[in-house]
Amino acid sequence: MNAKDLHRPAIRIFRSAELASEAVANVIAERIRSVPATTLGLATGATPRLVYKTLIERGRASWRGVRCFNLDEYVGLTPDHPASFACYMRDLLFNHVDVEPGRTHIPDGMAVDIDKAAKAYEQLISDSGGIDLQLLGIGRNGHIGFNEPGSAHDSRTREVRLTQSTIDANRRDFPEGQEPPATALTMGIGTILGSREIVLLATGAAKAEAVAAALQGPVNPDCPASALRRHAAVTVFCDQAAAARLDIEQLKGTGSVHAAA
Ligand code: PGA
Repeated sequence: MNAKDLHRPAIRIFRSAELASEAVANVIAERIRSVPATTLGLATGATPRLVYKTLIERGRASWRGVRCFNLDEYVGLTPDHPASFACYMRDLLFNHVDVEPGRTHIPDGMAVDIDKAAKAYEQLISDSGGIDLQLLGIGRNGHIGFNEPGSAHDSRTREVRLTQSTIDANRRDFPEGQEPPATALTMGIGTILGSREIVLLATGAAKAEAVAAALQGPVNPDCPASALRRHAAVTVFCDQAAAARLDIEQLKGTGSVHAAA
């Protein structure tokens, strides 16, 4: 792909993680209000917690017509394991809004045939008309979903091996002494890029390097999130700490950065 074919994600920088998260929650709530049959792509991890909390607390939009596809799930964890993303989603969002359980989808990390489950997930997304709005976090190593560095930008849903840094970062979610799974089922980067619109939320200094690499480094598989510059409708919401390594002067010259409240 030529440099001229790349896009410039809009970047919105907020004074705090709270403000950035609330802004993302507003985007989602507004979308559900204006298009009740929206299909959302959802993320887990520490970053979106406040987004979901805000959505629940505001509670003005009905989720009855909404369909949700989560990015990923560990292979080998049952949906009731406390560290599973299925459990996270129920606890932090699905149990608190009026979404229909049959319209919430998470990759099946317990499938006997994981490759078949991956293909079925792709098919279900496509049969549902695709994802309208995809929420993403970003890993310290630039991953999106569980697409670790080296993942092809046209990859599809599949089982992936997690890097040690991802395993270490997520160890906090597991009971003391329990080793996190070594693999996960994740939407591919190509699957993510198939969404009509993408919102990435990055907060905290630990994400600063990954955010700078994604937005201003080379677009290649070394930084999975750099693939977002292949998509025409991406907005990056971050707090000042996560934006600290961006070359703001260079971004201002392109008109893509907006310092918000
Ligand atoms: P985190 O993870 O929100 O827990 O930092 C983000 C990610 O890995 O995508």
